[in-house]
Amino acid sequence: MSTTGLVVDRGLEGVVVGSTDLSNVEGQVGRLTYRGYDIDDLAPNACFEEIVSLLLYGHLPSADELESLKRELASRASLPEPLVAAMQNVPKTAWPMDVLRTIVSGLALFSPVNNKGEHVSDVHTAIELIAKMTTIVAAWDRIRRGLDPIEPRADLSHAANFLYMRSGKVPTEIEEDAMDTYFVLLADHSYNASTFSARVTASTRADLYAAVTAAIATLTGDLHGGAASASYNNLVAIGSPEKAEKFVRDELAKGNRIMGMGHREYRVRDPRAKHLEAIAKRLSEQRGDTKWYPIARELENQSQRILAEEKPDRKIYANVDFYSAPLMADLGIPGDEYTCIFACGRIAGWAAHVLEQLHDNRLIRPQAAYVGPPPGPFVPIDQRSGATVGSA
Ligand code: COA
Repeated sequence: MSTTGLVVDRGLEGVVVGSTDLSNVEGQVGRLTYRGYDIDDLAPNACFEEIVSLLLYGHLPSADELESLKRELASRASLPEPLVAAMQNVPKTAWPMDVLRTIVSGLALFSPVNNKGEHVSDVHTAIELIAKMTTIVAAWDRIRRGLDPIEPRADLSHAANFLYMRSGKVPTEIEEDAMDTYFVLLADHSYNASTFSARVTASTRADLYAAVTAAIATLTGDLHGGAASASYNNLVAIGSPEKAEKFVRDELAKGNRIMGMGHREYRVRDPRAKHLEAIAKRLSEQRGDTKWYPIARELENQSQRILAEEKPDRKIYANVDFYSAPLMADLGIPGDEYTCIFACGRIAGWAAHVLEQLHDNRLIRPQAAYVGPPPGPFVPIDQRSGATVGSA
């Protein structure tokens, strides 16, 4: 669209606003790579801590480097006591994403500042944030259920620790694997909306805490990270696989979108969906609780078929949030926490992008085409009659 001589790219679709070494989304062929490594190789072979190392330090770690990173994560995972107390004092009905955003922002209060009042934004602060995010989400899960939070354990992986801090039980191998695979797949995705938000914030020379708080806020909506919780609500509403077709038709007739379907970049099935589907299926079979996966499987079949009929010129396939829902439901996690858990994976990418932005910074400040009233005289207050042009 062109207005007042400026070309407007609504939603910045297809606009290249920066560069990154961190990840590459190839939407036409459905490939996602982190620093050149295909997620098809990383998902089955690398753990989340290896991805954190890859994104923050630029290479896959040696065994010693991995051990050292795991020790650092574990040593930084506990929360400042006043923030735990703050969580204990908010209404138990508070939405998990509101709690996460607020407590992550609160972490800045306990972080040292230099003589200019600035927090240090380096890899250690990044690791601190990565370590503490899962502790916050697990603590709020317990506090709102009237239980005491559980301290993290140094001998567990990041994924296992998260599940342990929620339930008090060390997860089984498949549960740990499912959580870990999820974190690996969610770790980064180029200039998605929340990462872009983090980079915009960092570009003003704001610190990691500010940038990550902005990213969490941006992740919230259901066109982005909120879609996983919305997908879970769909599975609950459908109830059994044979009702999936009617559900899809009814939703589309109401003008609603099918959550977990469609993507701005991918014109094929999101490459992460394949791995999430496989692990969700394995988890559901091994737990013997086969309720959610079959509904999700049929919902994808029906959504893809009916969307192709109704919007033949669009290419709408399952995205990352689609199989996140049955996976997390089978891990016993309530639907309203899924966006927080997305954030616990994506924090690795957010932090790496903020450091990348700060390393070679230029203020991100686009233009807008002004479409309001033309310049006019100022009207003194005693001469105004109420609604006038431009008062909307
Ligand atoms: N269900 C139904 N229709 C959908 C759809 C979905 N999940 N996703 C896209 N469409 C349709 C839109 O209604 C629109 O149709 P129209 O041209 O007839 O109006 C068309 O496809 C293009 O949609 P648009 O919003 O312009 O595309 P986009 O590139 O911005 O879409 C999303 C990307 C993610 C915002 C979109 O696919 C969506 O809303 N998906 C559901 C939410 C979701 O899962 N978000 C997580 C993303 S990882």
